[in-house]
Amino acid sequence: TTSTTGAPSCLAPADLPVAVIGAGAMGSGIAQVAAQAGHPVTLVDSQRGAAERAVEKLTATFDTLVARGRVDRGTAQATLARISTHTTRDMTTVPPVALVVEAVVEQIDIKRVIFRQLEEAQSPTTVLATNTSSLSIDAITGVATTGHDAALHGGTSPAMAQPGRVIGLHFFNPPPLMRLVEVVSGELSDPTVLDDASALMRTWGKTPVRCASTPGFIVNRVARPFYGEAQRMVEEGLVDPASLDLTLRQAGFRMGPMELTDLIGQDVNLAVGESVWHQTGQDPRYAPTAYQRDLVRAGRLGRKTGRGVFRYDESGKMLDA
Ligand code: NAI
Repeated sequence: TTSTTGAPSCLAPADLPVAVIGAGAMGSGIAQVAAQAGHPVTLVDSQRGAAERAVEKLTATFDTLVARGRVDRGTAQATLARISTHTTRDMTTVPPVALVVEAVVEQIDIKRVIFRQLEEAQSPTTVLATNTSSLSIDAITGVATTGHDAALHGGTSPAMAQPGRVIGLHFFNPPPLMRLVEVVSGELSDPTVLDDASALMRTWGKTPVRCASTPGFIVNRVARPFYGEAQRMVEEGLVDPASLDLTLRQAGFRMGPMELTDLIGQDVNLAVGESVWHQTGQDPRYAPTAYQRDLVRAGRLGRKTGRGVFRYDESGKMLDA
C-alpha cells in the first residue's frame, strides 16, 4: 500500500520480520504474540542475558501449555524457533525489519535515542511503534510544539525526520492474553501506517482501537477516576475494600478497582496516574490519592509483593477473599 504522505508502508504478510526492543514483562509477551502469528522476531535488550532469560521463560510457558494439551508440541517448537535474541544498546545494529515494537523502560530520553537510531538504520518503510503507556508520541518524535509535550521536548534530541511512521501500539499486560491494543496516533502519524498496523493487530488476534495521543490514551484516562474514587471512599471510611470490590463486581465489572490495582502493581498504577495528572496540568479528576501513595511507601505493591490492598499467597491467590 502507499500512504497519503507518499511513504509506502507494508505490514501485510505474516512472515515479515519484527523486532521487539526490551525483553521485560511486556516485550517478551509481545514477542510471543508476534511469533505465534508467524513472524520471525528479534528480541533485543541492552542487559546481557535479559533476552535469553525471556526466551527461557517462554520455553517453560510453552512446556506447560503443551503438557496441558493447550498447544501441540510442533506449534510450540515452531513458535520458539522464530524468536532470536540480540543484546545491544545500539539500535543501528538491529537487523532490518518491517515493524519495530519498542517496550523498554518508561523513560522519555531513552525512548528518544532508540527511535532516532531506528529511524537512521531501518528502511523508511519500517513502522516504528512504541508500547509506552504514558508518554506522548509527539514527545518521543520531538515534533510537539505546544503544551506539556513541548516542555518535554526540551532539547536532548532534534525532531525526527520521518515522524509519520511512528505510532503507539499499546498492549495490555499480559500481552498474550489481553486482546486490546490501543493504536495511538501522534500529531503527524501517517493514517495509512495506522490502518496497516490496525489490520496487522487483527491478524495477531488482537482488538485494535484507534485513539489520539492524549494523556492516558483511553483506558488509563477513563480508569483513573474509577481507581481514585474507590480509593477515596475507602480512605474516608465509607466502605471497606472487599465490600467495595464485591459491589463493583455485582454491578458488572469483571474485577473491583482494589483487586485490579493490586494485580497491575500499586507502584506501576501510581506512576501512570501521576503521569496523566501532570500531563493534564494537575487536573483534580486524575489526582493520585494519599491512600495509594501510602500503599506504595509501605511496599504494599500488590500481588507481586504478597500484599497490597489485600494479601496474597505465593501463587498469587488472594487470601482475604
Ligand atoms: P520492564 O522493566 O519489565 O522491561 C524493560 C526492559 O527494557 C528491561 O529488560 C531493560 O533491560 C530493557 N531496556 C532498558 N533500556 C534499554 C535500552 N536502552 N535498550 C534496550 N533495552 C533496554 O518494563 P515493562 O513493564 O515491560 O514496560 C515496558 C514498556 O511497556 C514501558 O514503556 C511501559 O510503560 C509499557 N507498558 C507496561 C505495562 C505493564 O503493565 N507493565 C502495560 C503497558 C505498557
